[in-house]
Amino acid sequence: MDNQAFTEQFEQTYSAAPKVLVHAPGRVNIIGEHTDYNEGFVFPAAINFGTWVAATKRDDNTILVTAVDYDNQQNQFPLDDIQFDNEQGWANYVRGVVKVLKEALPDFGGANLLVTGNVPQGAGLSSSASFEVAILKAISALYELPLDGVQAALLGQKAENTFVGCSCGIMDQLISAMGNEGKAMLLDCQSLAIEHSPLPSTHQIVIINSNVKRGLVDSEYNLRREQCEESASILGVSSLRGATLEQLENTKSEMSEVVYRRARHIITENARTLTAAQALKDGDIATVSQAMAESHVSMRDDFEITVKPIDFLVEIISEVIGETGGVRMTGGGFGGCVVALVPTDQVDVVKQVVEYNYFDETGYKADVYVCTATQGAFA
Ligand code: GLA
Repeated sequence: MDNQAFTEQFEQTYSAAPKVLVHAPGRVNIIGEHTDYNEGFVFPAAINFGTWVAATKRDDNTILVTAVDYDNQQNQFPLDDIQFDNEQGWANYVRGVVKVLKEALPDFGGANLLVTGNVPQGAGLSSSASFEVAILKAISALYELPLDGVQAALLGQKAENTFVGCSCGIMDQLISAMGNEGKAMLLDCQSLAIEHSPLPSTHQIVIINSNVKRGLVDSEYNLRREQCEESASILGVSSLRGATLEQLENTKSEMSEVVYRRARHIITENARTLTAAQALKDGDIATVSQAMAESHVSMRDDFEITVKPIDFLVEIISEVIGETGGVRMTGGGFGGCVVALVPTDQVDVVKQVVEYNYFDETGYKADVYVCTATQGAFA
């Protein structure tokens, strides 16, 4: 839906023109998986899929939100008593962020909101973070709240952790808020230092959605987080960011084999992320390629978050691009998407290879999106 149609729909729904219209992007993570909640490094880009929110003020301390993509379902709640909604799951992202925003910056009143988005849901492209950041942007713009991108990201994460019930890290909300057009973002999840890094003009970001719907994501995700915390405590560090492979080898006998492998993924993934970000800057695609390939193997064997159809996609795409590009699973895992950095002149071949082989092998149909890196909501 374009801006004009969206504005018209707002007028039809609320009998007034919107006062603000904002957008927050989804993201693709190029490398650095599950490292964010271990205070490590991630290297995502904001993508040209996102969530749009239009809004006007109300004077009765009530939020009314209409979700275009859920048959215009509406959800209404008072600002002074925000409860979890068991019926309309999507509304909890709104309720959660409004609740934590109210605690942090109480100086705002009610609003009529209209929401639509085009980030594929449950695909590991952060539809929920983009939703949260868009709501925060809309309310802060409407009431001119002094909310910056980092604080917005932290509030979005807090809403997920404390209200929605997923122990996610900070990556998704921060890239949605702070990403830059044409660039990936190296983020240090300990200091929250950001470095924007141009993407090569010779390559495209290609996202292949396996369309394997992610099952048990939250429980498996939270379990991985617990296992990482367990290994950190055995290693005697506050987070795995502070651990080396050597320390891990020395304490191997004190932890279960699974917990050891989880920690090995995080420690090696942090190193790979720094290597890949630097190599991309240097135009050294072969090194990026290798880091992404190793990242995938580590997610598959050590962290155990990939599924067979995803492994298959990575295999057939890497056969096409070799060392001229990189490919790996992206996002939380258990289905979702593969990200590939593909030389522009090989994009069509990659598409064909996926089309010819993926369905026959797996019974799933893939969607391929050639993406551009876009501007974050607060950037
Ligand atoms: C999800 C979480 C992020 C991050 C990734 C895995 O997207 O929301 O915080 O942990 O998984 O890298």
